[in-house]
Amino acid sequence: MTLLAQNADPALSARQPPGLKVLFLTEMWERFSFYGMRALLVLYLVHSLGYTSADALSLYGTYTMLVYITPLVGGWIADRFLGMRLAAFVGGVVMMLGHFAMAVPALLQIALGLLVIGNGLLKPNTTSMVGELYDGPADPRRDGGYTIFYMGINLGAIFSGLVCGAVGETFGWHFGFATAGAGMAVGLCTFVGGQRLLARAGLRAGQRALGRHDLPVVAAFVSGSVALDLAVVAGWPWLGGLLAALSWARLLACAAALALPLLLLWRRALARSHVPLTPAERRRVQAICVLAAFLVFFWTGVEQAGGSMSLFADRQTDRRVAGFEFPASWFQSVDALFIVALAPFLSMLWTRINNSRWPLSDVAKLGLSMMVMGLGFVVMHIAQHHAGRQGGSVGPQWLFGAYFFLAAGEVMLSPVGLSLLSRAAPARSAALLMGVWMLAVALANKLAGSLEGLLAGSGIAPYFLLMNISIGLGLLLLALSPLLTRMLRRA
Ligand code: PHE
Repeated sequence: MTLLAQNADPALSARQPPGLKVLFLTEMWERFSFYGMRALLVLYLVHSLGYTSADALSLYGTYTMLVYITPLVGGWIADRFLGMRLAAFVGGVVMMLGHFAMAVPALLQIALGLLVIGNGLLKPNTTSMVGELYDGPADPRRDGGYTIFYMGINLGAIFSGLVCGAVGETFGWHFGFATAGAGMAVGLCTFVGGQRLLARAGLRAGQRALGRHDLPVVAAFVSGSVALDLAVVAGWPWLGGLLAALSWARLLACAAALALPLLLLWRRALARSHVPLTPAERRRVQAICVLAAFLVFFWTGVEQAGGSMSLFADRQTDRRVAGFEFPASWFQSVDALFIVALAPFLSMLWTRINNSRWPLSDVAKLGLSMMVMGLGFVVMHIAQHHAGRQGGSVGPQWLFGAYFFLAAGEVMLSPVGLSLLSRAAPARSAALLMGVWMLAVALANKLAGSLEGLLAGSGIAPYFLLMNISIGLGLLLLALSPLLTRMLRRA
């Protein structure tokens, strides 16, 4: 952070609230554990548990989707019952147990379940708490704060693959997963130890800071999570069989039939116990949902980095440098490395634009970022073309170029988006809306994984499609930005 303080960008070097350090470090360790485990998962399933690659990838896709669906529930639980701070802490404990359980092969399903539940409780709440460190929606330090927070996320991601990956592949899978668990434990200690610096962020009115008095809640959530997991695992043969027997259309019909009465009940419960949204708040929530829909396609692009692009690195990229062939998985760290390296410069770019004669609205910034991300697929499309022509492989500069644009787009968009969300969301449902924002990442993970399959036989090249979608939707978002900006206005 001292490194950042020396940076010339006033938005980043402006004195940030001290609590940001705590959230930065907590999220850095949490992402270290999350991405460290993710880097090992497919390899472990195939090499140690004897899964076929198709089965392993399918489980990976389901897992990465589920971890971003549960934030919807985790956010709601925080808004309504626990407050963000306690919910994030409980989530961290459950995640830590999940990582340690991964080290025991027989506990695989329980471990994945715990990680899905734990991430749902932690991720939306640490992210929303950043917004609570500032004095109201007009505080100019918020964008810079989220950029710094995003650098923490990616610092964790850079080291996760290198450390957990290396430990897992060299000393054995259990050690790799246990290292991830230890990382989460360090994150939890930082979170609890640094609470004084967080002031009231993440606490409900009248709620005390984390302490011994919270132990019963933590114990209840941990045992509840384990029980829920066991119930799902025990019922899986029946549930899995039922799902397999239903066609997509029937499945949707059943889901709608179930969802409708639940929705009605929920609305009624909300009306009774919740302060209803004012018309202005409702407009803001609607605008947030529209933006989240755009983000599904943004993240579908970005998620290619770990999917189709790592296969491109593996199969179609010449990775020899001075007689040494570096592993394809290293490109994963290149992506996060670009994000950390570019963050100060791009934040500076936004500050310059804000102070210029043509300031851009936040929504316009999101549109522009989406187009920058799309340039990565222009590069990939050309690279794929060359690789096809030259009997199979191209130099690594193509992937570096593509990762550069993907990382630039992500770091231009994601912190601005999170900051916008934390400013525009009504305080009493801030964490729930963070869950909605993360739902876009969930859908994108599923879509990213199934894109090749969906396009098979259509003659459409995936990179060509992604290039058109991201640049096209970026332009549409630019065109819609005056309308959406008006909807997001607070008054
Ligand atoms: N790389 C981001 C992270 O792990 C992806 C993400 C962004 C996830 C926004 C959720 C919401 O945090």
